[in-house]
Amino acid sequence: MTKITAAITCVNGYVPPKILTNKDLEKLVDTNDEWIISRTGIKERRILADGLGTSDMAFEATKGLLEKRGILATEIDLIVFCTVTPDMVFPASACILADKIGATNAFGFDLSAACSGFIFGLETGSRFIQSGVYKKVLVVGGDKMSSIIDYSDRNTCVIFGDGCGCVLLEPDMEGNGVVDSILKVDGNGRHFLHQKAGGSIKPASHETVDAREHFVYQEGQTVYKFAVKGMADVSAEIMERNNLTADDVAWLVPHQANLRIIDATANRMGVDKSKVMINIDHFGNTTNGTIPLLLWEWESQLKKGDNLILAAFGGGFTWGAIYLKWAY
Ligand code: UT7
Repeated sequence: MTKITAAITCVNGYVPPKILTNKDLEKLVDTNDEWIISRTGIKERRILADGLGTSDMAFEATKGLLEKRGILATEIDLIVFCTVTPDMVFPASACILADKIGATNAFGFDLSAACSGFIFGLETGSRFIQSGVYKKVLVVGGDKMSSIIDYSDRNTCVIFGDGCGCVLLEPDMEGNGVVDSILKVDGNGRHFLHQKAGGSIKPASHETVDAREHFVYQEGQTVYKFAVKGMADVSAEIMERNNLTADDVAWLVPHQANLRIIDATANRMGVDKSKVMINIDHFGNTTNGTIPLLLWEWESQLKKGDNLILAAFGGGFTWGAIYLKWAY
């Protein structure tokens, strides 16, 4: 029997129109354009308007995807919504999105794996397709990071931005789509990147608000060291076990946390910079949004059969790599 693989058959994205530049941030905290560019590679990022949530970006992205693919929302079987900034703690943003787009035949859930969320979601969605039971799976990756960023903390506020991307997974009989994956977690890393309050261990209170504990807390240097090693290790490993040389890799699609982490990963793989997708300069770190937004921006340059390595590292710690064959 021919093996079913899960191919990406359509991709789309949405970023809000409002731009927050490094110059704008110079007015909020003690930072400067030169420091931000040299340490992170970021020049500007997008900010979603007050009163809107992550599902509003997902609505725009998925609506466009359905139009592009020429299908109805009622044809979607499953929505995997990867985010750390759901509209609400519950219900899941997948439910809210299903309602907004009219995906009345779908079930869905949110997937929380910080910056690795989208690749975890892609693997999850691909397994549903491989089962043969599900024919159209929507994997959404998006975050309104500005809703959990402290714009008086220069360690974090310069890094993150808002945005959302999505892909459609469908069965493929030619071996295109998700070929292999290596996904990992190490909960010991939770101390270095997390949001202190708002969960069951420390629900919201006047004290937690006063202590500014509803924002991203990051020990940047520690996370950086683990990220460089984690992302490079799994990217090299997935190439090795699939007998891929650097020449065989058409594109590296790395999570966009820091240009230096991306460079280190590409170097370790031996992949030339010209084959590395980068949007950190104009979108910053959009957490779950980085990888699907890259695919969206690069879609016109991708060819059927291209070997892509997707790689990410994030809070948890979570990290991993996916070997994907482009299907169109
Ligand atoms: O996506 C999820 C996973 N996250 C990551 O992978 C992020 C990993 N970490 C990083 O990318 C980097 O650690 C950062 C970009 C967050 C920080 O860069 P760094 O080179 O590690 O800087 P640092 O934290 O070691 O700080 C160096 C100096 C410090 O000053 P002193 O102590 O040397 O005087 C900081 O206070 O830079 C200072 N600094 C800043 N200066 C200007 C920190 N943030 C800023 C800023 N502007 N925004």
